[in-house]
Amino acid sequence: MTAAVRGTDAAAPAAAATSTPISAASKTTNRPRGIYALGDGPTGRLRVTHLRDMKRRGQRISAVTCYDATFARLVDAAGIEIVLVGDSLGNVIQGHDTTLPVTVDHIVYHCAAVARGLPRAHLIADLPFMSYRNPDVALQNAGRMLAEGQAHAVKLEGGAEMAPTVAALVAAGIPVMGHIGLTPQSVHAMGGHRIQGRGRAARERLIDDAQALQEAGAYAIVLEGIPAALAQEITDSLEIPTIGIGAGAGCDGQILVLYDLLGLNPEFQPKFVKKFAKLGEAVVQALATYRSETQTGAFPTAEHSYSDPTAASEAAGTHG
Ligand code: KIV
Repeated sequence: MTAAVRGTDAAAPAAAATSTPISAASKTTNRPRGIYALGDGPTGRLRVTHLRDMKRRGQRISAVTCYDATFARLVDAAGIEIVLVGDSLGNVIQGHDTTLPVTVDHIVYHCAAVARGLPRAHLIADLPFMSYRNPDVALQNAGRMLAEGQAHAVKLEGGAEMAPTVAALVAAGIPVMGHIGLTPQSVHAMGGHRIQGRGRAARERLIDDAQALQEAGAYAIVLEGIPAALAQEITDSLEIPTIGIGAGAGCDGQILVLYDLLGLNPEFQPKFVKKFAKLGEAVVQALATYRSETQTGAFPTAEHSYSDPTAASEAAGTHG
C-alpha cells in the first residue's frame, strides 16, 4: 500500500497524469456490438483491455484507493480510471501501523460498498496478507472478491515466486494486477518500509519479477517505492501497464492513497505524496464552525427546521 512508502524517502512524485477522461459522447458512435473504444462499452465500464490500449496509445492512467460508496461516487465523477480497495485501509481506516491485520472479510466489505458508488471505473480488490499463500487459497479468496465484493480484478504482492498463483487465478478468469518493489505486506522481511531496487542485483531481480508476472498473465503491475530510472526501464520492457507509487514519472500510470492526495492527514507528508487539496484543514474548520454555531444557537435556523402547516388551523378551530 501506500502507507508502504509512508515514512520513507521514496522517489519524487510522478508528473500529473495526462489520461483522457472517458467521454460520454463516445457512446453515441455507431460501433458494431462487442467492439468498444476506451470506456464506451454498453455500461461505460472501463475494463482490463482498455488499460492495455491506453498504454499502447501512450495515455497515462490515473488510479486511487477508495474504501466507501460516497468517495467512490466522487472518484468516478472525476474520471479516474482505476479504483483500488487497498489493504492501506488498515492504516487510513483502521488506524494500524501496518497492513497486516487486514482480512479478506474487511476487503470484501469495503469493496462491495465502493462498487455501489462506482458506475464506470475499473475496480480492484487487494488480496490481504496470507490470503494467497498458495494457489488454492488464492482462488478461494479472490473468488470472494469478485463474487461478493463486486471487484473486477484482484491485486497481490510479490514477484516471480507468485507466478504459479497468478497463472491459476488468470486461468480461472480472475484478472490479476501484480505489485513489486516496496511490498508493505513484507514490512518485517524488508526491515521496514524501505525503497527497493537499489543496487545491481536488486534491480535485476525486479526486472525479472516484472517479466515473470507478465508471462504468468498479470494485466498490470504496481511499482512501489523504487528508483525512477528502474521504474522507467521496467515500464519500457513490458507490454502491460505499470502503475507507480513513489516510482517516478516513467510509469504508465500513477496511484495514490485517496486520503493522502486529498490532504486528509495534514501531518503525513512523505516525499512521494503530492497533496492536491487540504481537506483535513477544511474538515476541522467546518466542524469547529458547526460546534460554535450549535453553542451560540446560530444553527439551526428556520431554514433547517420543520413546521406543521396544520397547527395554525387547529388552533383556530377550523381544522378537521
Ligand atoms: O493498499 C494500497 O493502497 C496499495 C497501493 C496504494 C498500491 O497497495
